[in-house]
Amino acid sequence: MKRLFLLSAMALGLLTPSVSTAADGATLFVQKCGSCHKRGGQAPAVNPADKAGVVWEKYFERGRHPGNLSQSLNNGELGSVIQYLKAHAADSDQPATAVIPK
Ligand code: HEC
Repeated sequence: MKRLFLLSAMALGLLTPSVSTAADGATLFVQKCGSCHKRGGQAPAVNPADKAGVVWEKYFERGRHPGNLSQSLNNGELGSVIQYLKAHAADSDQPATAVIPK
């Protein structure tokens, strides 16, 4: 029963990427992107407001990120992060500039 519930929850999550996805995207952004992108890390800090929403979308859609990101995030997780980046992009209502400190 518990298992069935989990499966349904996962299926629902896929069909309705709404509020909870945005929260997950924020967490994933800090944890996954932030594991490399941080002060003193292997890559410079990044933040949603570094780019406009459409630029973020195209950046990942066109596979511009160096290396193989799929080792760090699966497609669903990357999708959540992209939703989050767009919601807080430079041209959004709530640009986020310092989620990961520069
Ligand atoms: C395994 C480590 C790693 C992970 C995880 C990672 N990156 Fe990167 N990223 C890099 C490296 C290395 C570069 C190249 C940095 C350079 O050129 O100095 C880079 C480059 C970038 C750039 C281009 C630099 C720029 O300022 O335009 C962006 C944007 C970017 N990453 C965003 C992200 C986002 C968003 C995530 C999470 C979905 C992420 N990265 C996850 C290592 C990583």
